[in-house]
Amino acid sequence: MSQNYWENRYQSKDMPWEKGAPSPGLVDFLAAHGNLSRGSVCIPGCGTGHDVREWAKAGFNAYGFDIAPSAIELSREKTKAAGLNATFQLGDFLHDEPPVQFDWIFEHTLFCAIDLAERENYVRAVLRWLKPGGLYLAVNYLIPDKDGPPFGTTRDELWQRFSQQFDLAEEWVPRSYPNRAGLELMLWWKRKA
Ligand SMILES: C[S@@+](CC[C@H](N)C(=O)[O-])C[C@H]1O[C@@H](n2cnc3c(N)ncnc32)[C@H](O)[C@@H]1O
Repeated sequence: MSQNYWENRYQSKDMPWEKGAPSPGLVDFLAAHGNLSRGSVCIPGCGTGHDVREWAKAGFNAYGFDIAPSAIELSREKTKAAGLNATFQLGDFLHDEPPVQFDWIFEHTLFCAIDLAERENYVRAVLRWLKPGGLYLAVNYLIPDKDGPPFGTTRDELWQRFSQQFDLAEEWVPRSYPNRAGLELMLWWKRKA
C-alpha cells in the first residue's frame, strides 16, 4: 500500500483501526513488567500514537514512525495535549534507514497492514531497526483474511519468518479490544546477538 493510500484513509477518516486507546495487550504487558530496563522503543506504523504514549508513560524513550503525514500530525497534537514526551517522525519502516538502532520494537497492526509481498522486507526492516540482542514485542492479528488490509497471518507463518534470527521469550493470548477478542497473539522475541 502506498503512502497516498494511507494518507487518503486519514484524510477521509476511514480508520476502523483507530480505537482511541492503546493496545490492551500492551497496557497489561507494561503494567506487569515494571522492572524492565528503560531504553529506546520504536513503534512503526504508529497511527495516532496511542501505543507510543503508553511506552512514554512507562518511562521509555518512545519514537513513533508512520508513512502518513496526517498520522504524524495527529500523534504530535495528541501527545502535546497529554503533556507527554515522545518523538514522531514521518518514515517508511520497510524501506528507510533507521535514524538509530533501538532497544525495542513494538508491533501492533503494521504487519497486517502491508502487502503480503512485503513481509520479507518487514523482517529485514526489524533486523535493520533493532539492536542485536534487542527485543521485539508483537501483537499479531491471527485472522484468515487474504484480501486486506488487514491481511491475516498464522503462528506458523510468524515462526517461519522470525525464529531463525530471534529467540522466542514468551507467547500469550492478550486482552484485546472487544472486536478482536481471541484473535490476537503476543510474541515476545529477543534478537539473536
Ligand atoms: C492499520 S493502521 C494501524 C495504526 C496503529 N498501529 C494502530 O493500531 O492504531 C497501519 C498504520 O501503518 C502505517 N503504515 C503503512 N505502511 C507503512 C510503512 N511502510 N512504514 C510506516 N508506516 C506505515 C499507516 O499509515 C497506518 O497508520
